[in-house]
Formats: sequence, C-alpha cells, structure tokens
Amino acid sequence: MADLRIAGPGGSFDTTVAVPGDKSLSHRALLFAGMADGDSLVRGLGTGADIVSTANALRRLGVDIDGDRVRSPGVGGWTSPETPLDCGNSGTTMRLLTGTLSTSPVSGTLVGDESLMRRPMERLVAPLAALGGVVATGPDGRPPITAGGTGRVGHASVRIPMASAQVRTAFELAALAGDDASTIDSPAGYRDHTERWLESIGLGSRLSPTAFRVTPGVIPPATYDVPADPSSASYLWATAALHPGAAVTTPGVSLNPGRLGFLQVLEMMGAQIEAEVTGDVGGDPVGDVRVSAAGLSGVRIDGALAVAALDELPLVAVLGAYAEGITSVREAGELRGKESDRIAAVVQMVRALHGGAEELDDGFDVLGTGFLESGTVETAHDHRIAMSAAVAATRIPGGAVIRDAGVASVSWPGFYGTLEGLWS
Ligand code: S3P
Repeated sequence: MADLRIAGPGGSFDTTVAVPGDKSLSHRALLFAGMADGDSLVRGLGTGADIVSTANALRRLGVDIDGDRVRSPGVGGWTSPETPLDCGNSGTTMRLLTGTLSTSPVSGTLVGDESLMRRPMERLVAPLAALGGVVATGPDGRPPITAGGTGRVGHASVRIPMASAQVRTAFELAALAGDDASTIDSPAGYRDHTERWLESIGLGSRLSPTAFRVTPGVIPPATYDVPADPSSASYLWATAALHPGAAVTTPGVSLNPGRLGFLQVLEMMGAQIEAEVTGDVGGDPVGDVRVSAAGLSGVRIDGALAVAALDELPLVAVLGAYAEGITSVREAGELRGKESDRIAAVVQMVRALHGGAEELDDGFDVLGTGFLESGTVETAHDHRIAMSAAVAATRIPGGAVIRDAGVASVSWPGFYGTLEGLWS
C-alpha cells in the first residue's frame, strides 16, 4: 500500500470491536512454546508481520509451527542456522531470541530491515554476558547480533538502567539455562508478562516490585490463549475519545499493569473508562474495556507512566492536539530508539496536520488548539505513527493522507478497515 487518504466521516458511533491478539504475548507464547520439548497450542496469535518474523525465525531453528500448533525438540534440540535469521521490523523478535540463544549450544546471527538495523542492541550485552552468555553486536552496538554456542552458563544478579521489558525478558530466558538462580532489577513501568508467566510455572519469583529471580529449569509444553492487544485497542479508544457522543467496547484485552498507561492517560485527560477484569491468562489479567468521549484537557506524563504508555505516546500527541491546554511528555528518551525516532516523527506528524508541537531531548510538548487540518503525514516507516495519524485524520473534515500507510501491517494488517468500520 502506498499513500492512503483517511476521511473525517463526522458523526459518532457506539460499537464493540474484536481486536487481534496481543503482540507482546504472541511473541512470548511462540517463543516459550518453541523452547519447550513437545507439542504446545497457541491460540489467538496476533496477525502482524512482527509475529510472522518470530514464527519464521523459530522455524529456521527447527520448530514446527502449523496454525496454532507448535511442535519443538526443545531449545537443546534446535539446530544452528547457516544463514542469518531475519527479524524483519521486529525488535522484540531480535532481543528475545538473542536472550534464548545466548546461553544455548545453538548459535545464530540476527539481522532485520533498515529500521531494525539502526536500533540499539548494546543494552543486551552486559546482562547476558554476566550469565556467561555469548553475544556480540555490530559496530556502534547495532545489529547484526551474533549469539549462542556457549559451553558454560553461570548465574548473575544485575540491575539495568532502563525499564525495558525486552532486556528483562532476554535475561530471564537466558537465565533459565543457568547453574543457579539469577536476579534482575530495573526502574519501574515495564510490562511484566514474562515474569508473571515464569512465576505461574514455578520458574521464578518476585523479590520486590521491580526485582525478579529466575530459577533455572525447562519450559514445559503448554496451551496459550493470547488476549486482545491493548496497544492496538488504543487506536480505537482514542478515536472514541475524540468524537463527541462516541463509545467503543473492546472485549478480552490484556490488562497487565505495564500496558495500562494509555488508559490512565485517557482518564487523566477526561475520557470515561470502564474496565472489567473477566479472567486471567498465565498470571496476566484480561478484561473488557469501554471508552466514551468527553471534553479532553492537556496532561503531563513522565516517570513510570511514560514507560507504561510508551508505545502509545504518539497517540497521546494526537489527543493533546485536540485537548484544551498543553500536553507534555518527559523522561521518554527511549522513544528515539523505537521503529523510528518517535520524538522527531511525532512532532513532524502534528506539524504536518498544522498543529503546534515542540521537540525536546526526552519528549515533546503539544499545544492543544482543539483542531487539526488536512495534510500529508510522513510515517518514517513506523506503524504506530501511521496509525496515530489515521486516528487524527478521522476528526479532520477534509481528512489526511498517510504516506507508506501499509506499514500498519507490522502490528495490525486490517487496521484501516476496522477504523473506518467504527462508523458503519
Ligand atoms: C515490548 C517492550 C517494549 C515495547 C515494545 C514491546 C515487549 O520495549 O516498547 O513495543 O514485548 O517486551 P522496551 O523493552 O524496549 O521498552
């Protein structure tokens, strides 16, 4: 898909939408099933290209994936691939797989598309090396990564400076092969899916709100039911919040506290939220969320809230433009190492739609004028910029053009149809 015009349809809606499976949990379910020795079932997988990258990398290591059935010889029986594993646009695929490989007898090289080859990977090296894992990055700490082929794995206690679920998970998966228990600590706000799941199968325990201990052991085959993706649902929640009289309900969404930052921000800005926990998957709460429109006001976001809303901060900028007052995001420098430099891309997006935005080292300010105008948004080949711009366009009478709109398929191939379908 090249450029796409999204029109502002006018009017409101009140509808229920089934959102695809959660991206973070889909990567993890496939990887956990691929590390286990035996047959697992993974139901409700996300449909995005990033998940296909994880599945294809696992296939190259000797895991058989057919629909929702995953059959593996176990990580000890994986085969070293002779050519590099292509992680596409997916940082989660690259970082999690690096963790697992680093303390395994199997070795591989991991590469990705142009965007992934620019992303920071150095952060993995010290924690994994502390375990005796083998890992090296390319020049400047970027990919390609080579990992694995180690003989002796030890154990370690590390503290990392960033609240990264990906680095924590890489360490935790690597530490399963250790000779004794290992611990990791970091600042707060990260999604703790891996830790809840390890705890639920007896391979780990929480030592404090941010410190986690991994007990070495073998992952058993299992059945995973992946809940709906709150990050994907956020685009629908934001659209409902922006259109007077509108509401949307999304059933069966992951309600892990590390994923609820955007809902908190929506509530702080004035939208009405109803969330009901209906179950639990691998220690992760799951439930239905309903968002209804209301007048929005600007907010300031920093600290652990900025981490828990990190992937949705481009959407916060869109809401901020339509709110009253200034919306400020700080302590979110991690945005610069995402699929694009998301601080620069967000500011360009708002300005392309004739709004006011200011770029800072660790965040941005957006001026709430209450309206945006037609324009063309460059997406910097970043799915979350493309989808945020599409949400903004739904409230612009003349609509807006999204460049390289097909990049949305990295996380949600049917996104634009679902967005426009809100009004039907
Ligand atoms: C993810 C963790 C976060 C998030 C990313 C998915 C995960 O990244 O931004 O989209 O599935 O663990 P960091 O760990 O780099 O913060």
